[in-house]
Amino acid sequence: MLYDRTGQTYSRTRQPDPRIAEQIWRQLSDMRSVANIGAGAGSYEPPHTVVAVEPSHVMIAQRPRDAVLAVRAVAEALPIRSKSVDAALAVLTVHHWDRLEQGLAELVRITRRRIVLLTWDHQVMREFWLLRDYLPAAATTDAELAVPLDHFDRLLPGVVTIHPVAVPADCTDGFGAAFWQRPHAYLASEVQAGMSLMTLTPRTLVHAGLERLRADLQTGAWQVRNGDLLDRREFDAGYRLVVADVD
Ligand SMILES: C[S@@+](CC[C@H](N)C(=O)[O-])C[C@H]1O[C@@H](n2cnc3c(N)ncnc32)[C@H](O)[C@@H]1O
Repeated sequence: MLYDRTGQTYSRTRQPDPRIAEQIWRQLSDMRSVANIGAGAGSYEPPHTVVAVEPSHVMIAQRPRDAVLAVRAVAEALPIRSKSVDAALAVLTVHHWDRLEQGLAELVRITRRRIVLLTWDHQVMREFWLLRDYLPAAATTDAELAVPLDHFDRLLPGVVTIHPVAVPADCTDGFGAAFWQRPHAYLASEVQAGMSLMTLTPRTLVHAGLERLRADLQTGAWQVRNGDLLDRREFDAGYRLVVADVD
């Protein structure tokens, strides 16, 4: 289990971002009960969550004391009765599931009204400067990890809508593109450890790419190439909210 090995520092670098939380919670605002699947340390879990499902004990151990109890299980075999919750939430987790189709079928089985997923579009992400200019090997990892968005249309019932989720310049959740305006952050090993994009890419290739980034930051080459980003308040790196109304 990847997160039993890499998740030790998750809650230090991956604090939920309030602006992203607001977008997710808006989609769940009129749902009375929510199941959070691949719940990890509990980020983005709305107050009306009635059950959380997470396979990694390292992640479960980082959940806040007052969070709903997490059941140790996988999305592909949910220990939850059919049609027992209004909504299912799955944030930045579907790309880790061994059997996506089975996991999504399980979300449909347990849900009465709505499924909300946060994922990303590799076609947009691969143009992000970190992957494009410094870590082409991580772009390859990303291509293998990312779930093509058309899969959700095919695998989820009802009306499926896709909503862009921009990354704020001071994003508090250290996922892959969080530091688009703070490039020095990528040089910190603790930040790297919280990104599956980095942990699943061969270490030597990540190291070489980040040394090139370090050099470009020192010479000012990064600033010249990416100067247009410096006065922006948010950035579209390809993160997308997928919302399926299943009723
Ligand atoms: C990037 S973390 C996201 C955690 C949390 N949703 C968040 O937003 O912080 C991905 C999570 O998916 C979990 N995961 C991996 N495989 C899974 C599976 N088959 N079913 C459910 N969760 C899984 C991991 O253990 C990890 O906690």
